[in-house]
Amino acid sequence: MAQKLVGILTAGGDCPGLNAAIRAVGKAAYASGMEVVGFLDGFRGLVENRTVHLDMNRLSGILTLGGTILGTSRDKPHRMPVGGMGTMDMTPLAVDNYQRLRLDALVCLGGAGTQKNAYRLTKSGLNILTLPKTIDNDVVETDVTFGFDTALMIAGEAIDRLHTTADSHQRVIVVEIMGHHAGWLALGAGIAGGADVILIPEIPYNIDVVAEAVLRRSRQGKRFSIVAVAEGALTPEEAAAGESANDDASSPFGPTVSTRLARQLQERTGLETRVTALGHLQRGGTPTPADRLLATRLGTRCVELIAEGRSNIMVAVRGNQTKPVPLSKVAGEIKRVDPDHPWVQSARLVGTCFGDSR
Ligand code: F6P
Repeated sequence: MAQKLVGILTAGGDCPGLNAAIRAVGKAAYASGMEVVGFLDGFRGLVENRTVHLDMNRLSGILTLGGTILGTSRDKPHRMPVGGMGTMDMTPLAVDNYQRLRLDALVCLGGAGTQKNAYRLTKSGLNILTLPKTIDNDVVETDVTFGFDTALMIAGEAIDRLHTTADSHQRVIVVEIMGHHAGWLALGAGIAGGADVILIPEIPYNIDVVAEAVLRRSRQGKRFSIVAVAEGALTPEEAAAGESANDDASSPFGPTVSTRLARQLQERTGLETRVTALGHLQRGGTPTPADRLLATRLGTRCVELIAEGRSNIMVAVRGNQTKPVPLSKVAGEIKRVDPDHPWVQSARLVGTCFGDSR
């Protein structure tokens, strides 16, 4: 039987653990007698046929490396910007390149957007398997995504550091945390870092409730307050209108949500307030051991599934197991925080304010 050829690409925002996953797919593929080719810069590399041969040498020494050795982009095959001419549907080119290389399967490492784009390609006949990665942890059908644990550690440590300076200066510090339209990262880091207020998109906040929580702490003699705000946090009015102050929650030029919040809090409480937006720091650097482990489990399982001839699936994690899930169940969906999620309940029980009236 002919040796199988597997393509691999990383798409969407990068995150720690991508290289660990590339290594896992690559090494397991070679161990199973397959060859591996990487596409550069996400789906754009597939469309433009820019490839790199991933031999064992190239797969070595990347387990602990942040970012992605393949590069990434947010380009979608069906709506790709083409040299100043607007966007074009480049799906036929992606299909041509896949066929000309005689790929048996294409592995796409990505978040919620990538799952959708990958599913679209399956409709053109490509055999696709995906792995769930993103610091946002917003991919459905999987317990967790790789990249999340590292970002949680970075944001949690940042909140620890903000505590000491807030205390020294008797300040309120608003710390803006990524997560797009989901509050997982702000919620997890806020709880782990002991934030006094946590604001997430899934629980719209009232500024007067937040100000009162901060003032209450001040009256109790607490010298500072830490407000952890998700970049997609919004007021009930914004929730009704369907948009947050950060437009699509990823405004590239500034922390709109947190600066507005800080200004309003200082006006209402009279307490000196500062803003720290963690931004892309949360996506950079060395993956945690938990993310390396998860990426390795998912990547190697993916190759087992390719060997079994499976495709059009995402490899998910459920407890101690890894499990194939039909891409059709994942594409176009976003996993958001249930306002009654146990993490929220725990936070409320230790006195955290969510800016609502509960
Ligand atoms: O999806 C990961 C993420 O970091 C989001 O949390 C954030 O909203 C977005 O990407 C930022 O995108 P970019 O890197 O394109 O500015």
